[in-house]
Amino acid sequence: MKRQNACVMMAAGKGTRMKSITSKLLHQVAGKAVIDYSIDLAIDMKLDQIVLVLGHQRDQIQDHIQKQYPSAPLSFAFQEQQLGTAHAVACAEPCLKDFDGWVWILSGDVPCLHLELMQSFEKSLSDDTLVAVAGMHLDDPKSYGRLIYDENGKFCAIREAKDCTDAERLNQNVNAGLYRVDAKLLFEALKSFDRNNAQGEFYLTDLVKYAYQRNLPTQAWICKGEQATDLEGINDRFDLAQAQSRICQRINRKAMMNGATLQDPKRTYIEASVEIGSDVIIEANVSLMGKSKIGNFVTIEQGCRLEDVVVEDYATLHAYTVAKQAVIGADSQIGPFARLREGTVLEKDVKIGNFVETKKLHMGEGAKASHLSYLGDAHVGAHSNIGAGVITCNYDGFDKFKTTIGKGVFVGSDCQLVAPVVIGDGAIVGAGTTVTRNVEAGALALSRSPQVGKEGWAEGFRARKKRK
Ligand code: UD1
Ligand code: MG
Repeated sequence: MKRQNACVMMAAGKGTRMKSITSKLLHQVAGKAVIDYSIDLAIDMKLDQIVLVLGHQRDQIQDHIQKQYPSAPLSFAFQEQQLGTAHAVACAEPCLKDFDGWVWILSGDVPCLHLELMQSFEKSLSDDTLVAVAGMHLDDPKSYGRLIYDENGKFCAIREAKDCTDAERLNQNVNAGLYRVDAKLLFEALKSFDRNNAQGEFYLTDLVKYAYQRNLPTQAWICKGEQATDLEGINDRFDLAQAQSRICQRINRKAMMNGATLQDPKRTYIEASVEIGSDVIIEANVSLMGKSKIGNFVTIEQGCRLEDVVVEDYATLHAYTVAKQAVIGADSQIGPFARLREGTVLEKDVKIGNFVETKKLHMGEGAKASHLSYLGDAHVGAHSNIGAGVITCNYDGFDKFKTTIGKGVFVGSDCQLVAPVVIGDGAIVGAGTTVTRNVEAGALALSRSPQVGKEGWAEGFRARKKRK
C-alpha cells in the first residue's frame, strides 16, 4: 500500500534581514506572497495533510493563508518562541498525532522550488530511507549547513557553518533545508535533541546524526548546477529580487511557448496569475498583473500597465495605456495614454483615444471617445460618438450621479454633461453645450451664447495697444 504523505512547513522565523515590518513570507514575488509558492507546491504534491508552523506575525500570515486557500487541507501549529528548526517541527506533532507515513519538511521561504525538482528528489530515494535530505552543490556555500560524510563515504551529519572546522567549511555540498523523514522516527528523535551548538538552538539537522548513530538508512540527494539555485531560500531583499527575476523568466517563457511574442522579455513583467492567448504581441516595459486575461491576436504596446483587466481578441492597446478592473471588448482600440479605471466595460470595437479617463463606464459596440475626456458613472450606447474634451460632471462634492447616453448619439466637442442626465437615442449635442436637462431622442441640445462679429475690431485693438 502507498504510504501516506504529510508536510510540515516551517514558517515561524523572524526574517530579520528583510528589514521590514511586513513578514518575509508576505512579501510579494511576481504578484504572489512568498509563502504562497510553498503552499502551492505542497498542494501540487497532493499531500494528505499540510501543517504550517507559524510564530512571528502569526495572525497576519494565518489571515492571509485562510483567505487565499479556503479549502486546502491545511492546519496550523504555533511556535511561541523560535528555539530552532527542530523545535519548530516538534510543534507540529499534535497536528499529526495519528499520522504514519512520510513527513516532508519544507520552509515557507523558498519560492523558486517547484514540483519537478521535488519529483527528482523523491525519485532518487529508496523506499527504506528513513531520513532523506535535499542538498545543493554551490560555488559559494555561504552559511548553509554542510553535508558531512564518514571515512567510508556514508552520510553521517549536517554541520552548521558556525559549528564547522575551517576544513569542513570548504565543503560545497550543503543542506537545502528540505527533508523527507519517517513520521514515527521524526517525532521520536526530536525528543532527544539538545541545544549544545554555536547558536544554542534545537537543530533539525541533528536528525542525520541521530539516524547514523542508530544505523538507520539515511540518504542525501545533491542538486547541481543552475537548478540548485531553485532550492535557495530568501533571506534579504537581494534574494527576493533574484527569486522574482527567476520566476518572471519562467512565466515569460511559458507565455512565449504558448504563442505570445515578447519583444523584450527582460523588460516585461507578467504575474503568475495572468492568462495570455496566442498570437499576442507584447512590447517592452509592459506590466500584466493580477487576474488579467489577454485573448488571442491582441497587441499591447510599450509601457502599458494592466491589473485585473480582460482584453478580448484582436484588441490593440496603444502605448502607455493604464487600466485596472476593466473589460476591453474585441477589436477595440485603446490609447495611447488612456486610463481605464475600475468598472470600465467596453463592448466590441470601441475606441478610447489619448488622454481619456474612464471609471464605471459602460460603452456599447462601436462607440468612440477619441480624445481628452472624462467619462465616469456613465452608460454610452452603441455607435455613439463622444467629442474631444467632453466631461461627465458626475460629482457634486457629496454624491455621484449617472449620465446615460443612448445609441447613435453625437456629443460635440467640449460639452459638459451635468449628471444625473439622460440623452436619448440619436440626439445631437452641439459643441460647447452644458447639458443640465434631459435631451429627447432625436433632438438637438445647444447652449451657446450668440456669437458677435465686429468688423475691423482686431486691427483697432492692436493699434490702441501699440500707442500705449
Ligand atoms: C537551516 C539549516 C541549514 C540549512 C538552511 C537552508 C538548521 C539548524 N539549519 O539553517 O542546515 O542549510 O536552513 O536554508 O536547520 N524556523 C522556524 N522556527 C525556528 C527557526 C526557524 O520556523 O525556531 C523556520 C524559518 O522561518 C525558516 C526555516 O525554519 O523558514 C529555516 O530557518 P533559518 O533560520 O532560515 O535556518 P538557517 O539558520 O538558515
Ligand atoms: Mg537561522
